[in-house]
Amino acid sequence: MTEQVSYSGPQRIFSGIQPTGNLHLGNYLGALKKFADLQDAGWEGIYCVVDLHAITMPHAKGALADQTRQIAAAMMAAGLDPDTSTIFVQSSVRAHTELTWIFNCVARMGWLEKMTQFKDKSGKDSERASVGLFDYPVLQAADILVYKATHVPVGEDQKQHLELSRNIAARFNQQYDVPGFFPLPEGLIEGPGARIMSLKDGTKKMSKSDPAETSRINLIDDTDMIAKKIKKAKTDTLGDMPETMEEMAPRPEVANLVGIYAALAGMSDEQVLAEYGGKGFGTFKPALAELAVEKLSPITKKMREFLDDPAEIDAAMAKGAEKANAVAAPIIEEVRRVVGFWQV
Ligand code: AMP
Ligand code: TRP
Repeated sequence: MTEQVSYSGPQRIFSGIQPTGNLHLGNYLGALKKFADLQDAGWEGIYCVVDLHAITMPHAKGALADQTRQIAAAMMAAGLDPDTSTIFVQSSVRAHTELTWIFNCVARMGWLEKMTQFKDKSGKDSERASVGLFDYPVLQAADILVYKATHVPVGEDQKQHLELSRNIAARFNQQYDVPGFFPLPEGLIEGPGARIMSLKDGTKKMSKSDPAETSRINLIDDTDMIAKKIKKAKTDTLGDMPETMEEMAPRPEVANLVGIYAALAGMSDEQVLAEYGGKGFGTFKPALAELAVEKLSPITKKMREFLDDPAEIDAAMAKGAEKANAVAAPIIEEVRRVVGFWQV
């Protein structure tokens, strides 16, 4: 949907990460690193550990708080500063769920039925999936729009959910005759690292839920483990490193390793090929392992330091919730007026 009147409020970033499983290199390059880069470029940003999303799938009782703390620690270790940016836990700001209900009555069944993530996660037996899993993208739209965020840094897998957020915003504006009330949030997706693939299968994305540990590099892996996983990463039998992008095109596993190198080094794929094209994997893989360790180990170290001092994380999250609430509260009040609810 496009709009006649566009949003004219401030530009603001929102993004979220679920507290499920271990964070991996895909989460770092597709999300965390981008967050820190955007903060350093001067963007106002609100970053959220989305625990309400985490309960849409089966989860171990009692693990939620610890996993939430891990993500908070990773956000800060990757360079988000709780004084500059807002970092908080989703369930501590009630406006997210309130706006979700209102958006449930704006979003159409047909829109949600198209969501590929629901199809993937609900598997063959979608009748047994939670209603929350189906509604997941509506909560995501509420996360973004309860702050009237205009830009959303995420990995490529979230493109469809962002499109849905734009449709909900546009339809709300139209249905309640408030042109330009909500912005139509744009993804910040492009760039190296938007889609990091499994180390075992270059056609599958690196994922928290892959049962094969060797398919991903976790942020908490130690130096030896990182080196081991890269050494074991699948390549192919088509010879040495390609010299051109054309030569690399039919080699997804190799393209993934080159993409990882490029994203970590801040280089383009072409620059990596200029340096390593024609060389053997016996040269490239150790160089990649060294680079990965060099970039990730300071983050892992900081993450462990934060986790050793949970009180500091908890204080940062409490402050973040207060800051987030200060932005969301007047917006949800405005929404209540627009919808026409009883005013108390
Ligand atoms: P999740 O772990 O699903 O909550 O994802 C957190 C963030 O990491 C989202 O912005 C995802 O788009 C991003 N992300 C997850 N997996 C990958 C991947 N393999 N490559 C790039 N980004 C990813
Ligand atoms: N669905 C996102 C993911 O799995 C997480 C998320 C929830 C999110 N709410 C969000 C991302 C709002 C960006 C903006 O990665």
